[in-house]
Amino acid sequence: MSKKIFSGVQPTGNLHLGNYIGAIKNFVDLQNDPNNFCIYCVVDLHAITVKQNPEELKKNIRETTAAFIASGLDYKKSIIFNQSLVPAHSEGSWILSCIARMGWLNRMTQFKEKAGKDKEKASVGLYIYPILMAADILLYDATHVPVGGDQKQHLELSRDIANKFNLDFNSPDFLIAPEPLIQKNFARIMSLKDGNKKMSKSDPSELSRINLNDSTDEIFNKIKKAKTDTQPLPENENDLATRPEAENLLGIYSSLNDQSIKNTINEFSGKNFSEFKEKLASLVVDKISPISSEIKKLLKDEKFIDEVLNNGAQKADKIASAKIKNLKKIIGL
Ligand code: AMP
Ligand code: TRP
Repeated sequence: MSKKIFSGVQPTGNLHLGNYIGAIKNFVDLQNDPNNFCIYCVVDLHAITVKQNPEELKKNIRETTAAFIASGLDYKKSIIFNQSLVPAHSEGSWILSCIARMGWLNRMTQFKEKAGKDKEKASVGLYIYPILMAADILLYDATHVPVGGDQKQHLELSRDIANKFNLDFNSPDFLIAPEPLIQKNFARIMSLKDGNKKMSKSDPSELSRINLNDSTDEIFNKIKKAKTDTQPLPENENDLATRPEAENLLGIYSSLNDQSIKNTINEFSGKNFSEFKEKLASLVVDKISPISSEIKKLLKDEKFIDEVLNNGAQKADKIASAKIKNLKKIIGL
């Protein structure tokens, strides 16, 4: 079956190994299946739900785009653009906010986490963030959305909005309820300092994550210092249940080498961590360094990156503005 894929990444600074394994690597695999039509968006309107420095934001939009291209996304095969260049996203978001119910949004756990204790001070944008995300997806009739496990609830909200709209306006199948594509293995890459915490750009410890622009020395050093337990590497997968750090490092190795965790365990069982960490660091460097140097090279040519985004936006705009036109017709505007 042919799939229409849509996904987005926020341009909020340093991309790390979790973003690469959990999202971007998957985007590339999906793009390279000729049955798929893929649209990848740098979601800059989502980024401004929390305060951004304008100069930094501009830089981060280009950097995320460069990371997409350096990782293997091809603007000739996929549509690559940034959200704010296509007005239909904002317009669609308003219309869909009249379909979504307060009760649905009140259940969103990410808002609760991001708003923290003082939710009165959170922006209204942060609260309605999932509606903009629904507009992103529904305007392109996307059938499948590759995301990390943390976005599953937002995808369910998009499905609820699509179904309610179709029902309210007696327009069956006009909006397509999208399916999430969540990787079964390696869906969550954990912090190198705590196997129970997600690798995240907001972690204050640099040693907790590997950034896509880390040097070879930084990568070797971070992996050398990564937390482990005192036992040798496990003999079988069941032993990983109580060893989150071992599971995470073996998961990173397996994912980057495109092999099952079982095969990785067979390769290293009984060996000690120092030997495994050497191999892991070399593998991470092999996979990440070419991406990192390509990002640096691409960022020197801002004109080229802006052109990729502008050309992508033109293609996206054709699809999204046609959908908005029909959407408005259905509701009597
Ligand atoms: P974010 O940086 O939170 O906007 O995430 C961009 C994409 O990377 C989303 O699809 C996330 O689910 C994914 N992602 C972020 N952190 C991780 C992680 N530690 N492990 C796996 N996927 C992640
Ligand atoms: N909310 C997503 C995240 O933080 C990013 C996003 C915005 C997105 N719009 C989207 C992902 C549409 C998939 C589809 O990771």
